[in-house]
Amino acid sequence: MIVALVGLPGAGKSRIGRELAQRLGYAFLDTDQMLQERFGAPAGELYERLGESAFRDEETRSLREAVQGTDTVVSTGGGTVLRPDNRRLLREVRVLGLTARDPQLLSRLRGGRGRPVLAPNPADRLQALRRDRLPLYEEVAEAWFWTESAPSRAVDRITDFLALGHLAPGVYFGRGARRFAGSFTGFGRSLLLTQPPLADSWARSLVDNLRYGERQVTLEVVPDGEAAKDFAVYRNLLGRMASLAMTRDEAVVALGGGAVTDLGGFLAASYMRGVPLVNVPTTVVGQADAALGGKTGLNLPEGKNLVGAFYPARATLIDPETLRTLPLAEFRDGLAEVLKCGVGLDAELFEACAGWRRPPAGPALDFALARAAKAKLGLVAADPKESGVRAKLNLGHTAGHAVEAASGYALSHGSSVAIGLSAVVRLAEQRYAFKHADAVLGVLRRLGLPMHYQGDASELWGYLVHDKKNGSQGFRIVVPRRIGQCEVVSVDEEEMRELAVLACTPVG
Ligand SMILES: NC(=O)c1ccc[n+]([C@@H]2O[C@H](COP(=O)([O-])OP(=O)(O)OC[C@H]3O[C@@H](n4cnc5c(N)ncnc54)[C@H](O)[C@@H]3O)[C@@H](O)[C@H]2O)c1
Ligand SMILES: [Zn+2]
Repeated sequence: MIVALVGLPGAGKSRIGRELAQRLGYAFLDTDQMLQERFGAPAGELYERLGESAFRDEETRSLREAVQGTDTVVSTGGGTVLRPDNRRLLREVRVLGLTARDPQLLSRLRGGRGRPVLAPNPADRLQALRRDRLPLYEEVAEAWFWTESAPSRAVDRITDFLALGHLAPGVYFGRGARRFAGSFTGFGRSLLLTQPPLADSWARSLVDNLRYGERQVTLEVVPDGEAAKDFAVYRNLLGRMASLAMTRDEAVVALGGGAVTDLGGFLAASYMRGVPLVNVPTTVVGQADAALGGKTGLNLPEGKNLVGAFYPARATLIDPETLRTLPLAEFRDGLAEVLKCGVGLDAELFEACAGWRRPPAGPALDFALARAAKAKLGLVAADPKESGVRAKLNLGHTAGHAVEAASGYALSHGSSVAIGLSAVVRLAEQRYAFKHADAVLGVLRRLGLPMHYQGDASELWGYLVHDKKNGSQGFRIVVPRRIGQCEVVSVDEEEMRELAVLACTPVG
């Protein structure tokens, strides 16, 4: 892996870079140092001798050489990002931004020789550099690290960050991942949204984290559950952001279950036509599903999720530690979605689910969450706007949605999906030569999830037909073909009626 460090002069790129390389057992290259070796003069002197344009040509040459290696930490010169060519080179590697407040930078640079870009008035010059270069640093940097304490502390944080799973661009996975939220919220203020059960626990420590570098954080606790996805709540938050005069580069951070990430996502998508969004999902549903893929939304009295936007988060930090406080019923519900991913998309994930004797914890949980998230991210990448293969995520949801609605939403979404899965695997066994219905039902049973709806099939039918009116191509359902593989098929009315009957039939 190549890790390049960018940032203003004095941010610590060389010092921290060298120590980071040592810690990782990587090579270390400093593009300024490379120039010095080539020309026998420090970069500052060279800049004056060659003139800016020739100096930058040489800088590009060094950078190109540096990013070609393997396992190297590269410290870049402060002006490297000015050239589009260099930014292109940096896009191919992992780029981390280093930063500190101006007084800190200036004190590090004071008396430093060979920094002509800061002459004659370093304070003014630094401000100008910050203004001109920050957008370019931001364009290339994946995350930001403050270097105000001892270099070894910054190196600790960076190595912890690099140790996180990187599931997709901007999606990080691992215990402690939440602690990096402040690396993605830029240099201004942020608005942190959360739900009541998290307000005094997870949210509190996140506020401290987001404040680092003297940034201001406004905490807003929204109503719990679906009540958050409401226009009045949304409108209040817009008003709050406007009264704080939040700008386009100030972030919304959504800490909570799918209700908060759906609301926070839509808020971020719409305030000033889009501000940065950081998701820290804290439910299984959130971590495996809701916070991934860029769908955001609010409910209307006329129906759920009728308003929304596709809006990707700048970062999503999936931290299984936050699930420690999740009530068991919510936890189990989320596992129905995880199991769904195993059955329809990932045979290895299913195998892991099949080995559970009780709801998973520790490494078994982490494995399942990461695989489910990855399965979803794979489909999202192939179909970002949900016009094709992403529909596979609806495995178990056709009967599931009908059951949820028929129960008047007394049954949770996860329990409804469990019933939907139970129905569709039995249908697939009868009609599609699917051989693993019993294995799937066994997992549902061991998790304590429901497997049939205690109601009437004709009542369910009403809701299934309602679903059809929303689509133009007749009945379409997702069926598993074998473990880890499913497809969207068109079915006739008789088959749909059978699905409704199975959903209401206890498993024998
Ligand atoms: N955008 C998408 O792609 C997508 C996908 C699936 C679901 N969703 C949406 O997600 C929502 C459901 O998400 P959910 O199941 O996470 O529900 P939720 O956000 O309502 O959270 C469930 C409950 O758990 C509590 N909670 C959350 N984290 C906790 C923690 N760590 N400790 C203790 N309590 C905690 C919440 O306060 C709430 O009471 C629905 O609105 C659904 O429409 C969206
Ligand atoms: Zn679902």
